[in-house]
Amino acid sequence: MMNPAKGNVLLLLLSFLLVCPICTSLDTITPDQPLKDGDGQLLLSNQKTFALGFFSPGSSSHRYVGIWYYQITEQTVVWVANRDAPLNDTFGVLSINGKGNLVLHTQNQTTPIWSTNVSFSVSSTNNSMAKLLDIGNLVLVQQDSQLVTWQSFDYPTNTLLPHMKLGLDWRTGLNRFLTSWKSKDDPGIGNYSYEMVTIGYPQACLYMGRTILWRAGSWTGIRWSGIPKMISNYFNVSFVNNQDETTIMYTTFSNLSNPEVSSKMVVDESGIMQRSLWQETRWVEYWSAPQALCDKYLNCGPNSYCDPHNEAIFECKCFPGFEPKSSRDCIREKQGVSMCNNGEGFVKLAHMKVPDTSIAHADMSLSLKECEQKCLRNCSCMAYASANESEGGIGCLTWQGDLADASTLPYQGQDLYIRVDVNVLGTLSSFIFKILEKHFTKMHSDFSHPIWWLGHRSGELGKQCRYFGGWSHHSNDRCQHSGGQSHHSGSKC
Ligand SMILES: *[C@@H]1O[C@H](CO)[C@@H](O)[C@H](O)[C@H]1NC(C)=O
Ligand SMILES: *[C@@H]1O[C@H](CO)[C@@H](O)[C@H](O)[C@H]1NC(C)=O
Ligand SMILES: *[C@@H]1O[C@H](CO)[C@@H](O)[C@H](O)[C@H]1NC(C)=O
Ligand SMILES: *[C@@H]1O[C@H](CO)[C@@H](O)[C@H](O)[C@H]1NC(C)=O
Ligand SMILES: *[C@@H]1O[C@H](CO)[C@@H](O)[C@H](O)[C@H]1NC(C)=O
Ligand SMILES: *[C@@H]1O[C@H](CO)[C@@H](O)[C@H](O)[C@H]1NC(C)=O
Ligand SMILES: *[C@@H]1O[C@H](CO)[C@@H](O)[C@H](O)[C@H]1NC(C)=O
Ligand SMILES: *[C@@H]1O[C@H](CO)[C@@H](O)[C@H](O)[C@H]1NC(C)=O
Ligand SMILES: *[C@@H]1O[C@H](CO)[C@@H](O)[C@H](O)[C@H]1NC(C)=O
Repeated sequence: MMNPAKGNVLLLLLSFLLVCPICTSLDTITPDQPLKDGDGQLLLSNQKTFALGFFSPGSSSHRYVGIWYYQITEQTVVWVANRDAPLNDTFGVLSINGKGNLVLHTQNQTTPIWSTNVSFSVSSTNNSMAKLLDIGNLVLVQQDSQLVTWQSFDYPTNTLLPHMKLGLDWRTGLNRFLTSWKSKDDPGIGNYSYEMVTIGYPQACLYMGRTILWRAGSWTGIRWSGIPKMISNYFNVSFVNNQDETTIMYTTFSNLSNPEVSSKMVVDESGIMQRSLWQETRWVEYWSAPQALCDKYLNCGPNSYCDPHNEAIFECKCFPGFEPKSSRDCIREKQGVSMCNNGEGFVKLAHMKVPDTSIAHADMSLSLKECEQKCLRNCSCMAYASANESEGGIGCLTWQGDLADASTLPYQGQDLYIRVDVNVLGTLSSFIFKILEKHFTKMHSDFSHPIWWLGHRSGELGKQCRYFGGWSHHSNDRCQHSGGQSHHSGSKC
């Protein structure tokens, strides 16, 4: 009788041979050594963490060149070369061409369907080679100098991997952002993107086309202001904002028992951002967004903020000193007095996702006290907050104009200081403010149901669900997250 262990090895070998008859793995692609689909070849990283090869996503029969984790059982593609130019046969070849570029073409065809497009000097055209690094980065390097001339990390698809930068390189004009796949079967460029927005003070936003769906918020020194869960024992995030670049990069902490833990952030086909970690046998979600109604960009109108505190009834609240103008906007209280050198001051709101910083100014050299003085001196300054949460607050953010898209967070969150006139200032000890806040809500109960209101106005309850893929109709005044299934316009919600 056969030794069962031996039998398993034989079985494994057999299935391996069936899947790829010749199956060779390369560690580099050179002018003499292309990667061919028909041969079932893979380009492997040094530690075999990642593989690059030809694949067909989902139920598609098209062929794409992609990068996936080699040791993770569930095929997880993290990058695709020819997203919008699929191959229709298995004769694809990825090679270094006569000009030193990495090109994808079909056998016997010289016109590439995808290329790295680097301009090489004549002397270095026969010096290129491609290899896959253990962080999942495909690089084109000069064989002699090891100089990197192109890297896949500069052209992300739907996945942000550790060590990959998101954002702008001001020196080269390169903007790295994520774009969703069209569907599980089609890695072509979809409608959703996750980008760094550098107008005003930088923030990260999720878009559908050119419409903002969700604002991750501005960088608070340790996290995006709208993602409390970003602070973790796993992720070490570095944000750089200077004349050379405005970028963010995640790594896993080097002090973990296993610093090589696989983690990724994806913008999926239904417009949901998801950060997850590979644990033993599956991807486990760490956070995802948009999730709550308060996440929806401008869910509450100008000068109001969203308060998810009462989960049953989502509420928009006017900032102190403001009153409802219409059911969506707040304006300065009518009985208010001038707020320009007239005894005005500030009221603190705690645990806030701070307002849209595209109209904000930052001065990293100021303390919180100096920030208050700066804002007070300038009569068009509406609010201020500390720009960096570290060490009890460093730097100064000031807002001129309408405050938009703020919300209170269930935990964490920053202190936001709102300019109020002398009367409001006089009435507002924090205790009284609590009562007043309730009063606002009660008085303007119509306003406190923005969702109901929106639906009512458009004559169709739950209509706002259209803004989000992945949300569905729940009840008359709520939408629920439908677990990543996509609901495009035309579907029920
Ligand atoms: C594959 O087929 C699609 C349409 O079926 C076509 O648009 C595309 O150009 C083809 N790709 C190649 C490489 O021939
Ligand atoms: C490429 O050319 C060779 C030789 O002419 C031929 O045998 C082969 O079938 C061709 N391959 C394709 C995909 O057309
Ligand atoms: C290379 O250049 C061509 C033509 O300008 C363009 O269509 C293609 O997208 C570029 N490829 C890459 C990988 O940037
Ligand atoms: C190509 O490689 C050879 C040596 O391998 C070298 O002499 C030559 O200068 C290189 N460049 C070109 C353009 O041929
Ligand atoms: C992208 O948006 C357009 C316009 O709304 C729509 O027609 C198309 O179906 C969407 N594509 C995907 C892949 O959802
Ligand atoms: C925030 O403050 C900390 C502590 O001083 C500092 O290390 C970090 O670089 C600051 N971040 C930004 C974006 O200024
Ligand atoms: C690793 O170090 C960071 C920063 O020093 C700390 O916040 C984190 O909790 C540490 N993680 C573990 C697992 O000890
Ligand atoms: C966090 O990342 C920075 C920048 O990559 C690195 O210098 C630092 O050592 C990392 N910290 C930990 C605890 O891994
Ligand atoms: C107030 O601040 C804005 C924005 O920084 C600036 O444009 C304006 O000149 C300032 N006004 C005064 C009076 O300093």
